[in-house]
Amino acid sequence: MWRGDFNNARQLLAALGRRVDKAEKQWLKKHPLNALTMPERFNRHRQNQAQRANLLNRLVVELQPDWQIPLRRAPDWSLALASVLPLCDQTRVISLRELLGIQGAYEWAKNGVEVPALGQKRRIYPAYGVYSPVRSEYLDLLAQAPLPALPDSSTGLTAFDIGTGTGVIAALLALRGVQHVVATDTEPRALVCAAGNLQQLGIAGQVQLQEHNLFPPDNTQADLLVCNPPWLPAKPASRLESAMYDPGSQMLLGFLKGAKAHLKPGGQVWLVLSDLAQHLGLRPAGFLEQAFEQAGLKVQSRASTRPAHRKTSDKHDILHEARCQEVTTLWVLQAAV
Ligand SMILES: C[S@@+](CC[C@H](N)C(=O)[O-])C[C@H]1O[C@@H](n2cnc3c(N)ncnc32)[C@H](O)[C@@H]1O
Repeated sequence: MWRGDFNNARQLLAALGRRVDKAEKQWLKKHPLNALTMPERFNRHRQNQAQRANLLNRLVVELQPDWQIPLRRAPDWSLALASVLPLCDQTRVISLRELLGIQGAYEWAKNGVEVPALGQKRRIYPAYGVYSPVRSEYLDLLAQAPLPALPDSSTGLTAFDIGTGTGVIAALLALRGVQHVVATDTEPRALVCAAGNLQQLGIAGQVQLQEHNLFPPDNTQADLLVCNPPWLPAKPASRLESAMYDPGSQMLLGFLKGAKAHLKPGGQVWLVLSDLAQHLGLRPAGFLEQAFEQAGLKVQSRASTRPAHRKTSDKHDILHEARCQEVTTLWVLQAAV
């Protein structure tokens, strides 16, 4: 437990991080990457991440009930901390790394991220622990895909956004003119975050938010079912990772399996998925096509994009080779007759 100066504690944490990273680089120098299979590289990466987190989380500080950190030169982060941590009437001990993460996310949430696909420089404000649409190429695919044609007697298009996160896809659909969107998520903090975003965009009236596993209940149907599920089939190590890791591809397969029953006649399913899992050897080639077939869905069209995030240019990243090949695809599916 650190009891000295706050800035020195931050420096110590940064130094510890550099030391762990250096040790991993040295290990990699001694073990040529081509001696490891892709799944072995992925396991090494996750093991290293877990050990890094475990070590760095051991540097702890005290936090008072009024959210103040009782250290010399400690900043007042009470607003950020009170918005995430549960109330506690006693002084508690908390990892400095977590405090920094909460404050960093709070700054992000204050400034927001501009999402070009929403047009007019509109911004989304991601909250702590909610998947942030910083890698927004997939949203351009969703913005460009033609919406399903309206049935003649219809009063307007309806859509479900499954796993809404910040609400960005629901917002995009509503701004594109989908009259009624139902957006679900299993994370209460995602739904609170989405509600704030929809409110500030002035489209809260068009989107209904529901805390649900996958689809809204009662076998309701929509013209368009959209989902951007976590893209890697592995166990999340923390709640923060559950937007990225989908153990046993449960969400992906659950969405596909339930899609047909929730689709109005003539409707479409839009699935956004990166193929990184395939390049890492975590899913066999043809996995998706087989899942579509088993769910009674057929491919109508597809559009792909390459992620432009920084990690693709980091040659020291153990997953570099797989990341360079990654492609994100919007699959447009229909019920097979
Ligand atoms: C990759 S994020 C996508 C978030 C958002 N749709 C976007 O594109 O930015 C996946 C989201 O699915 C949610 N999720 C995971 N399992 C779910 C389930 N079984 N039912 C509903 N939502 C789920 C996660 O909480 C997370 O918000």
